[in-house]
Amino acid sequence: MSSDSAIGIHDLSFSTTEFVLPHTALAGHNGVEIGKYHLGIGQRSMSVAAADEDIVTLGATAAEPLIARHGTDRIRTVVFATESSIDQAKSAGVYVHSLLGLPSATRVVELKQACYGATAALQFAIGLVHRDPEQQVLVIASDISKYELDSPGEATQGAAAVAMLVGADPALVRVEGLSGLFTADVMDFWRPNYRESALVDGQESITAYLQAVEGTWKDYTEQGGRPLEEFSAFCYHQPFTKMAHKAHRHLLNTSGYDTDEGDIQRAIGQTTAYNAVVGNSYTASVYLGLAALVDQADDLTGRSIGFLSYGSGCVAEFFAGQVVPGYRDHLRTTEHREAIDRRRTLDYAAYRELHERSFPADGGDHPTPAQSTGPFRLAALRGHKRIYERR
Ligand code: CAA
Repeated sequence: MSSDSAIGIHDLSFSTTEFVLPHTALAGHNGVEIGKYHLGIGQRSMSVAAADEDIVTLGATAAEPLIARHGTDRIRTVVFATESSIDQAKSAGVYVHSLLGLPSATRVVELKQACYGATAALQFAIGLVHRDPEQQVLVIASDISKYELDSPGEATQGAAAVAMLVGADPALVRVEGLSGLFTADVMDFWRPNYRESALVDGQESITAYLQAVEGTWKDYTEQGGRPLEEFSAFCYHQPFTKMAHKAHRHLLNTSGYDTDEGDIQRAIGQTTAYNAVVGNSYTASVYLGLAALVDQADDLTGRSIGFLSYGSGCVAEFFAGQVVPGYRDHLRTTEHREAIDRRRTLDYAAYRELHERSFPADGGDHPTPAQSTGPFRLAALRGHKRIYERR
């Protein structure tokens, strides 16, 4: 196949958690003026995982509709991207493989580089499909973001999983071969193995993200990428939706364009709807942006979309995709809205209790409270093993 052959995202589905905490409840607790959340960072609510939900149950729930629609015959690889991993050795993808009944003739692996992991997974998947266009790769990005209570990062928590079926002749988005790349060794956000919540230098992380925007775009341009005006929309990694706004303004600015507010809104406005109510879903966030865009925009057929994936630490990539004719027949707009609308609202005390929960590490038998109502649940931790159930 030539490097221009059509490979990309054939189908996309996302899931989110059982519970949601509105930012008004958080503001009620900490006395922050709600405008800081709604306007300053652009967040309305955050998805909160139930005691019996984790990255595996979210990932399996996101991927199940893809399997139901396309079957498993062509899937020979599952790549699970996460930065909220549950095990240092075993891939979370193996549990999902089991829950979904995928064939044993499958390779499964977990990938990590902060929020960039899913884009690495997508690019690796495209490489595999190039080698054998008959094969499809199931890419799952699943994360639960957790910061310390009463820290500045707390308002940017969230959780979601996106599952993408990557293959030849995709029905949604064809991914172009050319990418702009950027890596720099920075300590803007990290989570040592002994911690459940992330450590972050907030302002440093914003600066590092903006430098990565500049770096990827410079490389993309030097590689012979499309000019900025050819893009109809930009899907940015959204740790909070205002970050997409900051990123696009910076891109326009450093590329010598006017930073007109209307232009910024046209470029990113339709990509933020899901992230604003779900919160930071780390690896899944760029692709939640894509879901929001295709689910809401009138008609994007043939249009070019820019993707900017940023993972703290940091690695970033800019690439372009073209929306495929007929894509609207394959969307899951109703199911996506339902995944958001079905969440049950927590009050602050119930959220805090869930936040403070952690599994005992004694190897005993610890059933989890049955809180979630989705198709899969984490039933127990028994003898240091996670026990999952399908409903
Ligand atoms: N009405 C309207 N706006 C208000 C307001 C009010 N009443 N009060 C404050 N604001 C505005 C501020 O002016 C500010 O806007 P600008 O950034 O445009 O200046 C915005 O609200 C936020 O205010 P602060 O900067 O004072 O907020 P903070 O310091 O308490 O925290 C944060 C902000 C640093 C982003 C913090 O939430 C944080 O640490 N988040 C986690 C790290 C993060 O998400 N970093 C993003 C880049 S790293 C990345 O992308 C990887 C990843 O996923 C983590």
